Amino acid sequence: MSKILEIRDLKAAAKRRVPKMFFDYADSGAWTEGTYRANEEDFRNIKLRQRVLVDMTNRSLESTMIGQKVSMPVALSPTGLTGMQHADGEMLAAKAAEEFGVPFTLSTMSICSIEDVASVTTKPFWFQLYVMRDREFVKNLIDRAKAAKCSALVLTLDLQILGQRHKDLRNGLSAPPKFTPKHIWQMATRPLWCLQMLQTKRRSFGNIVGHAKNVSDLSSLSSWTAEQFDPQLSWENVAEIKEMWGGPLILKGILDVEDAKMAARTGADAIIVSNHGGRQLDGAPSSISMLPKIVDAVGDQIEVHLDGGIRSGQDVLKAIALGAKGTYIGRPFLYGLGAGGKAGVTTALEIIHKELDITMALCGKRDIRDINRDVIAQ
Ligand SMILES: Cc1cc2nc3c(=O)[nH]c(=O)nc-3n(C[C@H](O)[C@H](O)[C@H](O)COP(=O)(O)O)c2cc1C
Repeated sequence: MSKILEIRDLKAAAKRRVPKMFFDYADSGAWTEGTYRANEEDFRNIKLRQRVLVDMTNRSLESTMIGQKVSMPVALSPTGLTGMQHADGEMLAAKAAEEFGVPFTLSTMSICSIEDVASVTTKPFWFQLYVMRDREFVKNLIDRAKAAKCSALVLTLDLQILGQRHKDLRNGLSAPPKFTPKHIWQMATRPLWCLQMLQTKRRSFGNIVGHAKNVSDLSSLSSWTAEQFDPQLSWENVAEIKEMWGGPLILKGILDVEDAKMAARTGADAIIVSNHGGRQLDGAPSSISMLPKIVDAVGDQIEVHLDGGIRSGQDVLKAIALGAKGTYIGRPFLYGLGAGGKAGVTTALEIIHKELDITMALCGKRDIRDINRDVIAQ
């Protein structure tokens, strides 16, 4: 990992190590990928104020997200199929996050199960919920997250219908992979990935297979998923989930001021301004462009977080300056995982931490909790 200096290096390394269909799964957005690109581009267009001759000693990046201490305000996003970027991926990423002192969020659509991740961590992690039509299964997932002592539930609101990602369709993505000549070739050219994958038994959706009704094997899983995401999810359902869970609740996928106002009224602990990393509604604005408007509308009522397009510590600082209390990284940690397993995730976090620290100092600030719009160049 010696030549890895920025997240882009981890991405290039992951591309060399992970079979194409799974690398592409991470590096894809819906349709034209315009929103995916805008998430990153709009960060680049925000400029910072350079300040000089201010004391830069004793800097601190420590903060809180929903009242929980974090070593920097950056959590790991929930991402599906993470155990396909690297064998046992969710367990490795959770351990890296725990050691770094930042939250790890396990996706409903993970390869490693809630219990797998709980078995290798000592501190609580967060669990992301997709609401399925089978409410018994949802209740069961929530109970499992409670039993694992998860310290927040992240309820995703923007994926009741799947956005179309051309790369996945062209690649014939599935977990576990199919054994057509194309897929065999993609894996054969990534021998280390294959070797590690052969050493784990976790190659399917760990939270679902064996837990949901009539899903005991993989052949029934894809049809189950297509049928199960509930397209009628409503604000009333959010209240029901909140009640069922009874702990800290984060609503993920808010990109509109009106929705943010509705979300604030639910009594949830935080919202995540997010367009699912540009994977759902292509043509939607970038997350960072919507952040100031949403913070102005509801920032005094609910904690506002942001994800989408963060590729450096500078981006984290910009999001915090524009009012986010916390941020999340999806692809940056997936690239780290694909590039080097747990060590790669740690490297991703170290890169972002260092960039955030230096940027904050050069903006003339010493404490991340004091950052506000003042550091943005007008
Ligand atoms: C490969 C991949 C899988 C994802 N799977 C999920 C998921 O299962 N649940 C969810 O709420 N969000 C999911 N997301 C969205 C992320 O949680 C997050 O919103 C997004 O990755 C943030 O953008 P970034 O990748 O630019 O950091 C996924 C994103 C990626 C890249």
